[in-house]
Amino acid sequence: VEIVGLQGRDRDEPIEASHPHLGSTGLRIGDALPAGLDAVFLGLPHGAAAALVPDLLDQGVAVIDLGPDFRLRDPADYPRWYRFEHPRPDLLERAVYGLPELHGDDLVALRDSDVRIVASPGCYATASILSLAPLAHAGLLDDVVIDAKSGVSGAGRESKPDMHFAEVNESVKAYGVDGHRHVAEIEQELGLQAGARLAPVDFLPHLIPMTRGILAACHVRTTRPIDQEELDKLYHEAYDGEGFVDVVAAPPATKHVTGSNRFKVHAHVDARTGRVLVLGVLDNLVKGAAGQAIQAFNVVFGLPESSGLEQLPLAP
Ligand SMILES: NC(=O)c1ccc[n+]([C@@H]2O[C@H](COP(=O)([O-])OP(=O)(O)OC[C@H]3O[C@@H](n4cnc5c(N)ncnc54)[C@H](OP(=O)(O)O)[C@@H]3O)[C@@H](O)[C@H]2O)c1
Repeated sequence: VEIVGLQGRDRDEPIEASHPHLGSTGLRIGDALPAGLDAVFLGLPHGAAAALVPDLLDQGVAVIDLGPDFRLRDPADYPRWYRFEHPRPDLLERAVYGLPELHGDDLVALRDSDVRIVASPGCYATASILSLAPLAHAGLLDDVVIDAKSGVSGAGRESKPDMHFAEVNESVKAYGVDGHRHVAEIEQELGLQAGARLAPVDFLPHLIPMTRGILAACHVRTTRPIDQEELDKLYHEAYDGEGFVDVVAAPPATKHVTGSNRFKVHAHVDARTGRVLVLGVLDNLVKGAAGQAIQAFNVVFGLPESSGLEQLPLAP
């Protein structure tokens, strides 16, 4: 893979001006993209990608969009969750939700499609969906409460008053109590796994004072009683063949995946309450964003799925 262009608005500067750690690459950021591209990765606020993608498709470019503009199948979900009317609802059915563990065949099928859009999942959504997909697929997901925590890089680089060090440090807060936008894709994807409409998902995100990482704690009432042996079998069967997913025997920490494309999941039956607790962790900037986008790109372009993604987690 050759990086042939980087684009930002009104920019003409070496990459180290905004990303000093990448200065040694010698790359520059400009305000336009060169012609003749095979693929473009977009990392834009919602609504911005939807306006650009049709032109890119006309040029035969494959689009890997890290934002939400092509994640939802139902056009009515855009005004509801994102407060904009989708300008090209006809493209929503053609886009593939870029979670390779669940949509690998659909990503492969994009190779022969004239419309190649990978809608890369949200960070909270990836953690939640991968945590719960085996239960949904087995028809075991009844009622679920997802209690999730994220580091501050989940909010992007733009300066916001409530993201200042003094506001975030040594504090924890819940937000999105009226419904975080990722609920839409979580319900969509778990419903697809279940092959049925599921009960609405309760999802409560928290901002915590760390840079990277998401922990999703999913509290589940199952449709029938299940024991630990069956639960373990379910998760191992679902994920043992997946190169980036580890089913682990003890509750994982976000530090166990920092800087890597790995997702770690632990599932536990609480014999006292009868609930199942599923804990999933990922790095929101890697498996929750850029890494996952590269993973899906690899699948679409027939490269080994782990190309460029073999970095182990950083520790401490
Ligand atoms: N952060 C995460 O953990 C994460 C995880 C998964 C997905 N995502 C999604 O990825 C996308 C980008 O997120 P981010 O965290 O990278 O945000 P970010 O740091 O704010 O970067 C977004 C970039 O988009 C450009 N931009 C801003 N407003 C624009 C506009 N109106 N039109 C066109 N370009 C605009 C800006 O670059 P220029 O000023 O150079 O143009 C800005 O740096 C979002 O949709 C987000 O939901 C983020």
